[in-house]
Amino acid sequence: MGRLGVADRHLDLALIIWSMSDETLNPGYGAGCAAALVERTPGAVDPGRLAFYRLLDGLLSTPTGPPTSGQPRRPTVEGDAGHTCGHAQTTLERPMTKINLTVDGAKVSDDVEPRMLLVQYLREKLGKTGTVIGCDTSNCGACTVHLNGTSVKSCNMLAVQAEGAEVTTIEGLAQNGTLHPVQEAFRECHGLQCGFCTPGMIMQSVDLLNENPNPSEEEIRLGLEGNLCRCTGYQNIVKSVQHAAAHGAGATTSGAQA
Ligand code: FES
Ligand code: FES
Repeated sequence: MGRLGVADRHLDLALIIWSMSDETLNPGYGAGCAAALVERTPGAVDPGRLAFYRLLDGLLSTPTGPPTSGQPRRPTVEGDAGHTCGHAQTTLERPMTKINLTVDGAKVSDDVEPRMLLVQYLREKLGKTGTVIGCDTSNCGACTVHLNGTSVKSCNMLAVQAEGAEVTTIEGLAQNGTLHPVQEAFRECHGLQCGFCTPGMIMQSVDLLNENPNPSEEEIRLGLEGNLCRCTGYQNIVKSVQHAAAHGAGATTSGAQA
């Protein structure tokens, strides 16, 4: 297959949409979008690709006519203007799952989509925006929170997986207006520059010190290797953890669980 044309890229995008969709709810949605684009851009698409998408559309759609005929392939969700290719979305509602958990010491109960990430739940449903998203691919550690006292990357697990758990975010670390000793150490040693990585760095450092109250410099660097600082302020971050250890931070637990 030669260089991808614009139409090919649109087809790929449509297929990605399809693959990310809940198959039971949106069968053929992306494939249908692809087919609609094929109809609009005949000749601009690699023939093998075109055959593939037509096959997919045939397998997964329940067409009522070409998307450009004015008849949507699927009924439209109330209030949904449909898709830009003229391919309307499904009427089926997304299934929700009830979750009960404790976040920063408060019990919460919510209906969430099974595919919702824990970090999304914390930020979008609970407004805990102190937990940030740096990569969404479990590389940067900016989204680190504690799950039952142990650090986890909250972009790497589903909200439903936190059912029954105690979650502590950076916002639950300080108690009654008093910074956690690790927060205090980062403030004291200037362990931050822009501050974007800081919530994750601190949550990971608390977990590190809980496991090893007197880590060597090498152990600190190893313990924080899953957390990236784009400002590259690692020297002072390590100093902050050393400072926290010297002041007994390892004897503390997550604030909300103390
Ligand atoms: S946002 Fe979770 S690891 Fe980067
Ligand atoms: S302080 Fe800016 S990313 Fe770490």
